[in-house]
Amino acid sequence: MAQRGSAIVLIGFMGSGKSSVGRALARRTGLPRFDTDQMVMRHFGGSIADIFASCGEAAFRAGEDEALRNVPSCPAIVVTGGGILLSPTNREIVRRLGLVVNLVADFEILVERLQRRSTRPLLQTQDPRATTLDLLRIRQPLYKAAADVTVDTSALTHDEVASEILRRTEEIRFHENRR
Ligand code: S3P
Repeated sequence: MAQRGSAIVLIGFMGSGKSSVGRALARRTGLPRFDTDQMVMRHFGGSIADIFASCGEAAFRAGEDEALRNVPSCPAIVVTGGGILLSPTNREIVRRLGLVVNLVADFEILVERLQRRSTRPLLQTQDPRATTLDLLRIRQPLYKAAADVTVDTSALTHDEVASEILRRTEEIRFHENRR
């Protein structure tokens, strides 16, 4: 693989805290933040629920692929949607952009967080809990394979998660620079 960039890329399941932690990291580091969900919404001019309803999931995924390709190679905080790694090309891009941080949380905590909002079209099913479990089974191996660092957000505040990410990524970069 080509040289890896200096971004911090947040991946993980819906409700794992990527957006809020991304904002905390950008505030703490002063780095620009690129959030693929927000980039897609800007492109389509509507919410994710609107995009899924009017154009379908395939159009959303195409927009998401394009958003990720448009993230510049520079020091930045990159926040991705929970389905970004379904595309093999995206799996390569996230690792090329920089260090990949997988945010995880206990299943019950994820379910509880996800129940608070009804903005996620994939979970508008008869049994969102079972859907969450099905999606997790497919996606967990993808997150795990792409990650340099995994942080469990279950019992931490967004700022605590951001501190842990900065500590771990600085440690990795310190060791890389000594090689
Ligand atoms: C999705 C996750 C969402 C958003 C869309 C699809 C997914 O982002 O991209 O609803 O497939 O997991 P978050 O992970 O930020 O909720």
